[in-house]
Amino acid sequence: MSFSLIGRSFLKLEDFTPDEIFGLLDLAESLKLERLERREEHRLAGRNLALIFEKTSTRTRASFEVAAYDQGARVSNIDPGSSQMGQKETVRDTARVLGRLYDGIAFRGKNQNDVEALADASGVPVYNGLTDQFHPTQILADALTMMEHSGGDLRGISCCYLGDARFNMGNSLLMGAAKIGLDFRIAAPESYWPASAHRSCCEAIATDTGAKLTFTETVEAAVDGADFLYTDIWVSMGESEEVWADRVGHLLPYRVTADVMAMTGKPDTRFLHCLPSYHNLGTDIGRKIADRFDLDGIEVSDEVFESAASLVFDQAENRLHTIKAVLVASLC
Ligand code: CP
Ligand code: NVA
Repeated sequence: MSFSLIGRSFLKLEDFTPDEIFGLLDLAESLKLERLERREEHRLAGRNLALIFEKTSTRTRASFEVAAYDQGARVSNIDPGSSQMGQKETVRDTARVLGRLYDGIAFRGKNQNDVEALADASGVPVYNGLTDQFHPTQILADALTMMEHSGGDLRGISCCYLGDARFNMGNSLLMGAAKIGLDFRIAAPESYWPASAHRSCCEAIATDTGAKLTFTETVEAAVDGADFLYTDIWVSMGESEEVWADRVGHLLPYRVTADVMAMTGKPDTRFLHCLPSYHNLGTDIGRKIADRFDLDGIEVSDEVFESAASLVFDQAENRLHTIKAVLVASLC
């Protein structure tokens, strides 16, 4: 294995060059094939990883665990509710303890500052499994999924994100698109666009990579000719239930329906979503909000989510292969 990011943390995409991101994607592709062909090597044998999840997770936690086990490493789940971190001990003190015991630490929580402090103080690679600001491992899975459905080449691909773009997904997709060189559009009310400092940073990167970044309130213009439409839930983890009425009021024109898919003018436009998704009445919150606003799903209609155009479970699987690439590259 020639590609390596030995000793590096994975905190946000801004820290990585386009070549490094493409290197991780290539590595993820080959690790995926190794697993499929049941010839995986235990590159991480004898290594120990700590997983700290302050917020709930299905895909990210499971992907870190299975990636570690597949490569011969062991994991400890450290529940912030039953450990000292943040209650009786600072993040930096916990980091200095865990850095003596573990070879790497994955963290999911609210503050980007916390994952940065863990990396700074622990002395071992730290992996951002989502903060309010960024969700960088998700973008690797999204990019791999787009590659697999675009003949392997991401340059020239167009992707439109619709919905709340101020949070982790909007911020990280924008940075990923800038680094990778995508034609990337955000369709949302202006108050839901990423912060202007982050937009400027991504626009500066785009001038080097050839990415084309568009921000608009107009759905028709944003989705025209798009190869992929992407959305995320409208109320993220940690936000108050009280914001639902405003979100629905503001974002309803941006929900992904069959009409919006058709508006691309391309019969083969694919649908992406990081998940979890409120696409039907099968969850307590999804049912409550959809009933209240008379919807068949919230940010995406059930029809689109369940359609042949939907790649959401390919994306979910690719969380494993891309997180594995990050672990292998940073620890080998
Ligand atoms: N997409 C994602 O991060 O899913 P989880 O919240 O289940 O980890
Ligand atoms: N924006 C969502 C992403 C979930 C993967 C959240 O933070 O809840």
